[in-house]
Amino acid sequence: MGILNDDMKRVVRQQRMGFIATVCADGTPNLSPKGTATVWDDDHLVFANLGSPMTIENLAHNPACEMNIVDTFLRKGYRFKGTAELLTSGDLFEEIKDAYTTGSRGIQRSGIPAKGYVLMTVTKTAPLVSPGYTPGKTEADMREEWTGYWAGVQEANT
Ligand SMILES: Cc1cc2nc3c(=O)[nH]c(=O)nc-3n(C[C@H](O)[C@H](O)[C@H](O)COP(=O)(O)O)c2cc1C
Repeated sequence: MGILNDDMKRVVRQQRMGFIATVCADGTPNLSPKGTATVWDDDHLVFANLGSPMTIENLAHNPACEMNIVDTFLRKGYRFKGTAELLTSGDLFEEIKDAYTTGSRGIQRSGIPAKGYVLMTVTKTAPLVSPGYTPGKTEADMREEWTGYWAGVQEANT
């Protein structure tokens, strides 16, 4: 049993969107979305480097990072803290590339050519729960509220 439990894996796999924070050379934060973010195994998250120059540069001189992923409808999610490295060759790179290419290991198949894969070793996790969970408000209530909200947004935008 690794650090990632079943609910964490569910959220990461379902959302297909993680925001990763890295540290710039001048100490300022760098935050950007990764739609290929997913679970690699019980202790690792992974995403494809499709166009993440600052994230990659930052990780090269400081591997520290944090990824946040929140279930849009439940308004709950997780913070994942750890270190990450860019893989561009080797056995593990080939395994990850194969998983993204074929859609194996529960990874969403991607047809976009990747420049490499960023493997994050998760060392600390913490839950994220919206303050909107006021006393008595259930997950079913929350899901209903935000399903309605997003349906309205879609209607307004089309
Ligand atoms: C919805 C969405 C999903 C994205 N998914 C990825 C991804 O999986 N991998 C990637 O390298 N870039 C992805 N990008 C692009 C980067 O986030 C974007 O190029 C960003 O400016 C890179 O910032 P960085 O250099 O700080 O990493 C995505 C962008 C958006 C808007």
